[in-house]
Amino acid sequence: MAAHREANHSEIRFVLGGETVTLLDVSPTQTVLGYLRETRGRVGTKEGCAEGDCGACTVVVGELCGGQVSLKPVNACIQFVPTLDGRALVTVEDLRAPNGGLHPVQQAMVDCHGSQCGFCTPGFVMSLWSLYLNAMAVGARPDETEIRAALTGNLCRCTGYRPIIAAGQAMFDLPAAQFDRAALAKKLTSLRRQSSLAISYREQQFFSPKTLPELLRLRAAYPRATLLAGATDVGLWVNKQLRTLNEIIYIGEVAELKSIERTATALTMGAGVTLSQAFEALKPIYPEMNEMWARFASLPIRNAGTLGGNIANGSPIGDSMPALLAVDAKVVLTNLDGSRTLGLDALYLGYMQNVIAVDEVLTAIEIPLPSANGRFRTYKVSKRFDSDISAVCAAFQLALEGDTITSARVAFGGMAALPKRGAVTEAALTGARWNEATARLAMAALASDFAPLSDMRASSAYRLSTAKNLLYRFYLETNPAAALSAAEVSVFV
Ligand code: FES
Ligand code: FES
Repeated sequence: MAAHREANHSEIRFVLGGETVTLLDVSPTQTVLGYLRETRGRVGTKEGCAEGDCGACTVVVGELCGGQVSLKPVNACIQFVPTLDGRALVTVEDLRAPNGGLHPVQQAMVDCHGSQCGFCTPGFVMSLWSLYLNAMAVGARPDETEIRAALTGNLCRCTGYRPIIAAGQAMFDLPAAQFDRAALAKKLTSLRRQSSLAISYREQQFFSPKTLPELLRLRAAYPRATLLAGATDVGLWVNKQLRTLNEIIYIGEVAELKSIERTATALTMGAGVTLSQAFEALKPIYPEMNEMWARFASLPIRNAGTLGGNIANGSPIGDSMPALLAVDAKVVLTNLDGSRTLGLDALYLGYMQNVIAVDEVLTAIEIPLPSANGRFRTYKVSKRFDSDISAVCAAFQLALEGDTITSARVAFGGMAALPKRGAVTEAALTGARWNEATARLAMAALASDFAPLSDMRASSAYRLSTAKNLLYRFYLETNPAAALSAAEVSVFV
């Protein structure tokens, strides 16, 4: 019956195991992982790190996008239960073959010896299941690179990855197991709510507005509320810092924040666009960014996190900001009185501090399209290739007339207390010819712009020498006349 009536505005409703679940009395910061394990006894989903790094808690969330069901792996440990409202949750307990036996993904893991202690296995299985379904839906068969990309959010400490990747290939050779997306779409359609979700639980309040005006009214009324998007950072405030969040405004249902529009001059994204969606939209426009996006956190994090959240968070080690600073992206801040647009470099004041007023919301990001005479690159240096925090993240953009630099933008993450441009370095480049001498002058100028700290990721000296070498790499990659041999390139420290 619950599926056919409009929900109480404080009822959370979602699909689990094919059935509609209705929850009334739940903390807004109850994690999906805690709910599964402690309330539902679904202990197949594991807790490893509780911060979105290991993938032991990977589940798949389904939602309606343009009438179609989209199925994406996310980390249950940092997702809050109210964000499941109107969605479907699939865990390893739900997987089986049509005959009731092991699903092809599970059978392939057995056949390829893809599990030893088994702690990571349900997470790998759910990542592979998502890949399996999405590939089957379009009749594709992923290659090894695509399988590896699907597993960037899953760590295994004992089996090693080769047998798991083999399972990712072998699962397509087994008798197919279909998933009834049409039936799920019907269920999710029945869960659509007319009114917004609002929860009061003890001292906590949670609001999930459906429109921008509603969001702005809530922002004005609750200036101290935590704005919640993908929870990829806020989830850690709860799990690791044990903070109690008394007022939460969730932006994941605000339709206006999910749009992506391309004009003749810019790509404009709503702040609620997920990182996966944002990077997909940017790929054809800035192919030079693709490696950065592939190495940005992990697939489950990119599926949950939003571009607006990454920018508003303003972490000095956030990987989207250097590239966006280099291409002169703008942000739109909105309150009940209207909107203002400012350059991304004007957003930050210091460590995790910005100019967003208490009644404002970051609503959109405008990314200029590249110009024909531009040269752009972005680079990431971290200890691990996938799912790691940058020691140094760099982005450079030059505009050239002939070989003369008419404008330069140089931006770094991991080099200061905030994502930061290098004004002295940019001045050394602007007006000069793009040649070896200019590149070396600019490399030297970096020391005037940045005095990086030493931490567990890298020493100050390493960061500065790496920044210089990345700038030199940019020179080599963007200047066909660059003549140095590879042997000469490795000595700049
Ligand atoms: Fe490690 Fe969730 S428990 S990612
Ligand atoms: Fe033990 Fe992967 S099988 S951690």
